[in-house]
Amino acid sequence: MNPSSQLQSAAAALARAGRVVCLTGAGVSAESGIATFRDAQTGLWAKFDPQELASQEGFARNPGLVWRWYMDRLHWVEEAQPNAGHYALAELERIAPDFTLVTQNVDNLHERAGSVNVVHLHGSIARFRCNRCAKQHALQPAEREADLPPRCAVCQGLVRPDVVWFGEMLPQAMVARAWQAAEAADVALIVGTSGVVYPAAQLPYVAQNGGAFVIDINPEASGLSTMADVHLAGPSGEISPRLVAAVQNARTA
Ligand code: APR
Repeated sequence: MNPSSQLQSAAAALARAGRVVCLTGAGVSAESGIATFRDAQTGLWAKFDPQELASQEGFARNPGLVWRWYMDRLHWVEEAQPNAGHYALAELERIAPDFTLVTQNVDNLHERAGSVNVVHLHGSIARFRCNRCAKQHALQPAEREADLPPRCAVCQGLVRPDVVWFGEMLPQAMVARAWQAAEAADVALIVGTSGVVYPAAQLPYVAQNGGAFVIDINPEASGLSTMADVHLAGPSGEISPRLVAAVQNARTA
C-alpha cells in the first residue's frame, strides 16, 4: 500500500470506530522541544546517572540534587508549548464517540492542547506528593527555587514529584484504566513510542488481541510498526493532523 492509501485506510478505521485507545510516548513531545530522559542528560546534568536522579535510592542519598533536577525539568516543560500533534489528538477525542489517551509522558502538553480523558501511566511532573504518606502537595513558588525538597504538612516526610521512578510500580488505577480501554478498543493509535518500556509496550498487543485495528505513527520503524495494521512513517506533528483531517472527511462523506 502506498502512503496515501495507508493514511486513508487508517482514517476509515478511525471514522468507523466506536472506541479508540491512543498510546503516546516521548516522540509526541519531541517537536515541542522536550528532551527525552536520556537526551536530557546534557549540559549541567550530563555528569549524573539517571538512576541517581530518578530512583528511591538516589533520592535518599541526595534529595537536594533530585529536587533541583526535577525543578529544572518542570521549568522546561512549562516553557514548552503543545505542538500540532498534541492538538490533533485533542481534536480526535472530540470526534470519536469514546476516546482514551494513555501517555507515558510526564509532561502535561496533552492536557494543555485540550485532551481531557488522559491516563498518565508514568505519572506527572507537575504534581507532587509526600514520599512517605503519599499526601498530595501544592507546590509553592519559593519551593521551586529551594535547594532541598519541601516537607509534607501532615507527616514531615520529603515531598517528591509524582512520577514513576526506576524500580517503582506504575500507578495501578492508571494501569487498570489503560488496560480496560485497550481491551475494549476498536482502534489503537500508537504515536511516538519506541515500544521498549513495559508494561506500556504491551498495550497495542492487548488491543490487537481484542480485535482492534492498530495504527502506528513514528518516523522510525520499530517492533510496533511491524505488528501494526498500518505504519504511518513521519513526525507526529505532520502526520496526526493529516490523519485527523482525513477522519473528519470520512465521517462527513
Ligand atoms: N513524531 C513521532 N515519533 C517520534 C518523533 C516525532 N516527531 N521523534 C521521535 N519519535 C519516536 C522515535 O522514533 C522513538 O521511537 O519516538 C520514540 C521515542 O522513544 P523513547 O525515547 O524510547 O520514548 P518512549 O517510548 O516514550 O519511552 C518510554 O521510557 O525513558 C522512559 O519513562 C520514560 O516514558 C518513558 C519510557
